[in-house]
Amino acid sequence: MRLRNWAGALAAALVLGAGSAGAETVKIGVVLTYSGGAAQFGEQIDRGMNLFMKQNADAFGGHKVELIKRDSKRPGGDIAKNAVKELITRDKVDILTGFVFSPNAMASAPLATQGKVPMIIMNAGTAWIPSLSPYIARVSFTMWHAGYPMGKYASEKLGCKTAAIGFTDYPPGKDSRNAFTTGFEEAGGKVLEAIPMGGPREVPDFTPFFQRVKNAKPDCFYVFVPAGNHSVAVIKTFSTLGMKDGGIKLIGPGDITQDTKLQSMGADADGMITVHHYSADYKTPTNLAFVKAWKESYGADTTPDFMGVAGYDGMAAIAHAITAQGGKISAEGTMKALSGWTYDSPRGKITIDPETRDIIQDSNVHKVVAKDGKLMIEVIDTIPQVKDPCKALKIGKCK
Ligand code: PHB
Repeated sequence: MRLRNWAGALAAALVLGAGSAGAETVKIGVVLTYSGGAAQFGEQIDRGMNLFMKQNADAFGGHKVELIKRDSKRPGGDIAKNAVKELITRDKVDILTGFVFSPNAMASAPLATQGKVPMIIMNAGTAWIPSLSPYIARVSFTMWHAGYPMGKYASEKLGCKTAAIGFTDYPPGKDSRNAFTTGFEEAGGKVLEAIPMGGPREVPDFTPFFQRVKNAKPDCFYVFVPAGNHSVAVIKTFSTLGMKDGGIKLIGPGDITQDTKLQSMGADADGMITVHHYSADYKTPTNLAFVKAWKESYGADTTPDFMGVAGYDGMAAIAHAITAQGGKISAEGTMKALSGWTYDSPRGKITIDPETRDIIQDSNVHKVVAKDGKLMIEVIDTIPQVKDPCKALKIGKCK
């Protein structure tokens, strides 16, 4: 009951719009992690959404937006699915959004189809999620946006002939493993072993997995974990076992060098290479303005990360869909409005691919550098405007 009251108060507080003649009220069901270790992700995405609304009240065509928030709590899918069921049947939401963890998006996808409610994914990265419903569009990334180019880069530019992989054992982890393996082997590299390292819910003790990799002595060690506390544990274990000094390069998608965690990663993170589509350290005018506004809103010691920017861009997508449909939302109308939609995001240009309803964006090679006593991300290479490679190459479930 508390949650309902809290959500109700929040909904009232976040109503936007002038309420002029012809103005509609658009109900948006937001399904995010608001408790436990992953609450930091819900907060990031919320902050991104709120910042967009604060800066762009006029982007909603005069229509009102009512956010109804639900806590998906854990990555298992069941709680999110129940929340989505309630949002559709009881709250009668027009749009569903949020979804940090892939299993939560996967479990909810059939309900989007049955209820004919559009679903705009702000994180969940398993490549084939949009194929689970014709009413899904994604503004975040797929595991292949980072994993596949990281594989190629490791072989071609980092000089790694062999690699080991460690991955959190659930759909995006397996997808990230497949993405890296495909890119690395296409470029001539050899994967020595791929180690499942426990589930996403609790941060496991990575020591036994990393010790196995240390013994195998690969040139590169590619790790995917679902960001947050997991990523700090990855670099800490890597350091404790002295793997850097052992000549092993720790690489991965940018989830393991998340902006919000960078300053707690320690000296061994210096020089790490990852591939991702966003860092708060990007020096473009759009991003500088975004980060400045973020700090003004949430505190000088806060920083957006790839989840925050997805919340921001996701709200831009929603505003566009609302305006394009004159506030009268349908699933088909929303997908049509988002098909080919292009936006000047803080991460750079993004487009929703009309063929896949997935995002097209730059994949950037990130290097962690120590500067003025801080760890920062420097972009050292860019693969422009990447369409999800899993779908482009028609691999596995992306066929
Ligand atoms: C996912 O569950 O799809 C997921 C979660 C956290 C990440 C990336 C992917 O950092």
